[in-house]
Amino acid sequence: MRAQITLAGMTDIHQVLADHHRYWGDRDLRSLHLPALVQEFGDTCLVARAEDGIHGYVIGFVTPTGTGYVHLIATRDDARGTGLGRSLYAAFAEVAHSHGALRLKAITSLGNAGSIAFHRSLGFDATVVDDYNGPGQAMVVFHRVLPFDWAQR
Ligand SMILES: CC(C)(COP(=O)(O)OP(=O)(O)OC[C@H]1O[C@@H](n2cnc3c(N)ncnc32)[C@H](O)[C@@H]1OP(=O)(O)O)[C@@H](O)C(=O)NCCC(=O)NCCS
Repeated sequence: MRAQITLAGMTDIHQVLADHHRYWGDRDLRSLHLPALVQEFGDTCLVARAEDGIHGYVIGFVTPTGTGYVHLIATRDDARGTGLGRSLYAAFAEVAHSHGALRLKAITSLGNAGSIAFHRSLGFDATVVDDYNGPGQAMVVFHRVLPFDWAQR
């Protein structure tokens, strides 16, 4: 079942929260799904929707200095490995670029090997930044310049 990528609405974030475990497994990231992000940055938040629900989503925004920041990206457990994550990033890059983004940025925890492999596959540089989240709390920071042909490897 092919999903269509469109702008996200408030009902979408509530749907995603209701099915949170299908996107994040045992990790509880519900507190990061701030409705205000979709309310205020709805022009850069996307969902991949099909008849059987939301297959994936990206919540992101463009900073005043031209960074398209991906706050959250996830695909549903039954939609992984199909290229949907790549398609969501390509769609976000396009919409963020149209709103002035010159580069993309995202972060993840040191232990999220899947996210690190995913971002590397998409051509992101990955750097460990000490104290990113506060004293002693390093994070992996991803960068990618725009525009970029997402079909490239
Ligand atoms: C990370 C995630 C979004 C990837 O989504 P996906 O739809 O499976 O990704 P795609 O099928 O588009 O894969 C794109 C590329 O990344 C690679 N990739 C994706 N997940 C990977 C993993 N866990 N390990 C290794 N490589 C991975 C794919 O092999 C593919 O590489 P290729 O195009 O060179 O063949 C998805 O696994 C997910 O939602 N994980 C839980 C939430 C999460 O951790 N989000 C990231 C937080 S920053």
